[in-house]
Order: sequence, then structure tokens, then C-alpha cells
Amino acid sequence: MNQAASRISYTRPSITELEVAYAADAAANGWGERCYDYIVRFEDGFRKHLGVSHAIATSSCTGAMHMGLAALGIGKGDEVILADTNWIATAAPIVHLGATPVFVDILPDSWCIDPAEVERHITPKTKAIIATHIYGNLCDMDRLLNIGRRHGIPVIEDAAEAIGSEWHGRRAGSMGTFGTFSFHGTKTLTTGEGGMFVTSDDALFEKVLTLSNHGRARNQKKQFWPDDVGFKYKMSNIQAALGCAQLERIEGLIARKRDILVRYAEALKAYQSISLNPESSGTINGAWMPTAVFDRDIGITREMLQQAFSAANIDARVFFHPLTSLPMFPERRSNRHAWDIPERAINLPSYHDMTEDEIRRVTEVIVSLIDSRAAGEPHLAKSA
Ligand SMILES: Cc1ncc(COP(=O)(O)O)c(C=O)c1O
Repeated sequence: MNQAASRISYTRPSITELEVAYAADAAANGWGERCYDYIVRFEDGFRKHLGVSHAIATSSCTGAMHMGLAALGIGKGDEVILADTNWIATAAPIVHLGATPVFVDILPDSWCIDPAEVERHITPKTKAIIATHIYGNLCDMDRLLNIGRRHGIPVIEDAAEAIGSEWHGRRAGSMGTFGTFSFHGTKTLTTGEGGMFVTSDDALFEKVLTLSNHGRARNQKKQFWPDDVGFKYKMSNIQAALGCAQLERIEGLIARKRDILVRYAEALKAYQSISLNPESSGTINGAWMPTAVFDRDIGITREMLQQAFSAANIDARVFFHPLTSLPMFPERRSNRHAWDIPERAINLPSYHDMTEDEIRRVTEVIVSLIDSRAAGEPHLAKSA
């Protein structure tokens, strides 16, 4: 491998003069009467982009999820069903509210929550189902919403990783009772840290708005008068200024993510033993995190992949460990796919300004690894 080659990061934001100008303007002028200008503009733009009625900018996706679950009244004794394949950020708010996360298995092709497993785990204590669109791949929202309707349980979308993804004409995050987004520095649209709560439910919006302002309702005339114990998960005007600029460029940011996934797919199409992020008919994958999953019979492991990428000076990230493999949750090996897939998968670099040469270097690592494994096993080699 080429040790002298420069390091390839797995993600990096795309910051242009527009972001710099807006952030500088917010820093210089966004105070006093103008201290919410960019926040209001960002929320309004995001709401329109998604096709929902309401959006509240937050300091993180985790905060948005925490407030949304609290607004649904989720607490002690309640259960919330979510996929075992998730970042811990999705489970943490459930735990903080005193409820129990119920981790279920994923589907082997989408790597997202298995609707049949959701239904199998519903009990009288189930108060919500969280659909996480992992790496930009889409959950089967038709089946999940149908289950939610039949059982009277809200379906929530964790769309932290799914800006740009669409399910049969509806944007990820816009279909559930509420949706949450992350604008962490690794995301397709970034504000450094940040998130968004979105909903088309007017009453839920009002509740979260009040909770988000330390429990102070917007129609409360008394100053410094909270009506409830709330949260402080706000986004700053300077972050929102970055968000406004990124939102103006959102189509290009998403298109570039999708383009990188296509490049990987083209370069690796001869290798039947690799699956990349799927895009089922009628859906669009926002391709936040191109990910390669290797068939088990070719014998390529996470550790081999990490070693090969590290030797090539490429920052590749492991597939999410099942949350039930972590020490704070009861082990649940029966979540077969959630436990199996990470052992033979890797997230690939995909930042906006990646060069053709960098994409080639990434695919070369995979090709040489797979070719070396296949050398002694001809039936695993590339197809004709
Ligand atoms: C699926 C998922 N949910 C939630 C989060 C939390 O986002 P944040 O870091 O903005 O709180 C992340 C962050 O990476 C995520 O990947």
C-alpha cells in the first residue's frame, strides 16, 4: 500500500465562501433584535425543503429526539422499539426518560429495522417505534406506518443520516409523527453541531416549542415564567447561519453524496460478494455513508478491512456495533443480522471534495483484498 499517500478522511464538510459570509454576518450583526434571524430562516427553509408544517432547530439530533419523546409523554415503565443497529444517540433519550429501549433485528438488505420484528415485540407498554434510516438507507415506512396505525403507536423517524433520502416521493423525516435530523460536522448538511425537530402535528409542535424554551410557552405574557420543566437544546444564530448557506446548496451536497456512492458501485460492480447501500424501487438513497458489506463466505472481516485501510492511510469506519453488544444493555444475540453484518462491513470515505484519485485509492484497497482472498477460491472471484 502507498504509505506516502495523503490521508483520506471519511467525512469532511463542504464549506464555501457562502457559509463563511453568513457565519461572519451572524457573528458581526446577529445580536439584539437580529439574534434569531438566521434561526428563523433556517427553520423555515428546512421545513419547506422537507414538506412539513413545523421545524425547530436544536443543538443536536439527540436533543431533538429527547424533546420529542418527552412531548409524547414517554417515561418510566414505557417501552420504545428501535433497531439494534443504531448510534447510541437514538437510545440514550429513551433511557434518560426512564423508559426501556427494546432492540429488535434489522433486515439483511436495507440494514434498517425489520417491521415483522417490530410487530412481534409490541406489548401494552409500547409507546413508540423509532425508524432509523441508517446511513441514508430507508426503513420500510409503509409497513411501519401501517403497524403504528393498527396498534395506535406513533412511528418516529430518526433521519439523522438521511437528508436527501426519499420514500416513494416523501422525504425521510417527514412521514412519522415527528422526525429528527443531525447537522454534526460529519453530516451531508452541517452546522458544526446541530439538529432539527420536524413535525406536521400542530399540538406536538407547540409542546416541543415550549419544552425547548425551558418550558416557557410562547403565549405566556409573564416574563421568565416557565409553565413546565423543559430543556435547553437550542441552536445558536451563528450555527443557523451556516445551516442557511448549506441549505441553499443542499441539492448539490446531496447529489455529490449520491455520485460518490455511484462511483463506488461502478468500480466494484464486478464483485458479487460485496453489497453497497441499496436503493429499492421508488426510493432515493441520500447516500450519507457509502458502506460495503462482504458476503460471509469470502472471509473478509472488519479487522482485515480496518487493517488494509489503515495501511493505505484511509480513514474507514466500522459499521455500528449492535447496541445490545454494549455493556449497558442486555445482550441480545438473537438479533442475528444486527450482530452478523458489522463483522464483515466497513463505511467508506465520502466527503464532498473527494477526488477521483481518492475514490480509486479506496476501491483499490477493497479490490486487492477481495482478489487476494479469492485467489485460492475461484468461485469467489469477480464475475465475467
Ligand atoms: C442514527 C443517528 N441518530 C442520532 C444521531 C445523533 O446526532 P447528534 O450527534 O446530532 O446528536 C446520530 C449521529 O451521528 C446518528 O447517526
